[in-house]
Amino acid sequence: MARPVTTIEDLRVIAKRRVPKMFYDYADSGAWTESTYRANQADFAAIKLRQRVAVDMRDRTLATTIAGQPASMPVALAPTGLTGMQHADGEILAARAAEKAGVPFCLSTMSICSIEDVAEHATKPFWFQLYVMRDREFSSSLIARAKAAGCSALVLTVDLQILGQRHKDIVNGMTAPPKLTVKNILDMAIRPRWSLGMLGTQRRTFRNLVGHAKGVSNLSSLSSWTAEQFDPALSWDDVKRIRDEWGGTLILKGILDPEDAEKAAETGADSIVVSNHGGRQLDGAVSSISALPDIVSAVGNRIEVLMDGGVRSGQDVLKAVALGAKGVMIGRAFLYGLGADGEAGVTKCLDIIRKELDVTMALCGHRDIRNVGREILVPGTLPSPARHAEHRAEAALAAAE
Ligand SMILES: Cc1cc2nc3c(=O)[nH]c(=O)nc-3n(C[C@H](O)[C@H](O)[C@H](O)COP(=O)(O)O)c2cc1C
Repeated sequence: MARPVTTIEDLRVIAKRRVPKMFYDYADSGAWTESTYRANQADFAAIKLRQRVAVDMRDRTLATTIAGQPASMPVALAPTGLTGMQHADGEILAARAAEKAGVPFCLSTMSICSIEDVAEHATKPFWFQLYVMRDREFSSSLIARAKAAGCSALVLTVDLQILGQRHKDIVNGMTAPPKLTVKNILDMAIRPRWSLGMLGTQRRTFRNLVGHAKGVSNLSSLSSWTAEQFDPALSWDDVKRIRDEWGGTLILKGILDPEDAEKAAETGADSIVVSNHGGRQLDGAVSSISALPDIVSAVGNRIEVLMDGGVRSGQDVLKAVALGAKGVMIGRAFLYGLGADGEAGVTKCLDIIRKELDVTMALCGHRDIRNVGREILVPGTLPSPARHAEHRAEAALAAAE
């Protein structure tokens, strides 16, 4: 009998077996030395929780709101490119799992299934993530399509004006669909589940772009187009322009510095996501969880703060909430679930995180996630620069007393 799946790590191990190497590696990698990618998880692990006893732990609730929308727990699925290459029709399956679990799903600009594909198969509104592109007409058309599909929030990613380098993608020669080289054919042939799924779907390339963006009719024109498209001149004025054009709930994703958080708060966006793109952009940047407290102190009273990066368990979710995040986004955790077992795997991922979050919250002495605060963390175990913020807060408190 197969070993039961009990952790996100179990899902990762299965996904590694089932997903062709170039796509597994695409997910499980960070920029350059991957130091920020590793720090995202390591800094979560260092934070210690305070165990509390003899408090009433009945009638617990994880329900909250994220960007003003109800969520059954403070978790959303992060936008991830090429999700439909982890498993056939991946974005549709993940969107379905998310809506059944009552958490938001965010579709990436760089998705395999298009906005319309997902809208056709989803029963609840989903979020759409936009990259700011040089071709304003194309950006506008994506915004219009997201509106037409009834998307309930626009997630504007601001940390990818130029692309960080991930060595594995270069070594693997990653493309979607994969080039039919001997190496790739062998890689797919030993993964019949994945290959059969792909043979059974038409959704095998960037369907948000192909047929929509000018000059993108086939794969080779597409790859040069994407390399040239991201706008290196992005400014806060562009963010405001997009805010006005969209006119709905706006989430700015990719803020890692309190000074940028101040500027983001001034744009009138509804939320920010403290994020280093899962360690895929600036290698050497601080982990998201260590950046969170300073950003919460700077802007938390003016704008909702979310975070992502390194969340692999319900304990991680609780720690982020304790440090002031209204919710977290998960990227790789759900991708591993998807690669392991399609929609059921994403459901499993969300079940694991929900259960861990619920039990951990209870053992920390809380019954309502909305009441969880920094008091559940052991002072002195917060990673730097979070620790600096903690010391400053203590000093301010001491000065006030
Ligand atoms: C495979 C992969 C693809 C990604 N593609 C996008 C993307 O298209 N747009 C975006 O805003 N962020 C993208 N991200 C970043 C995620 O939205 C999120 O910030 C990150 O995955 C969080 O870290 P975690 O994977 O440790 O949870 C991607 C991340 C991964 C792992």
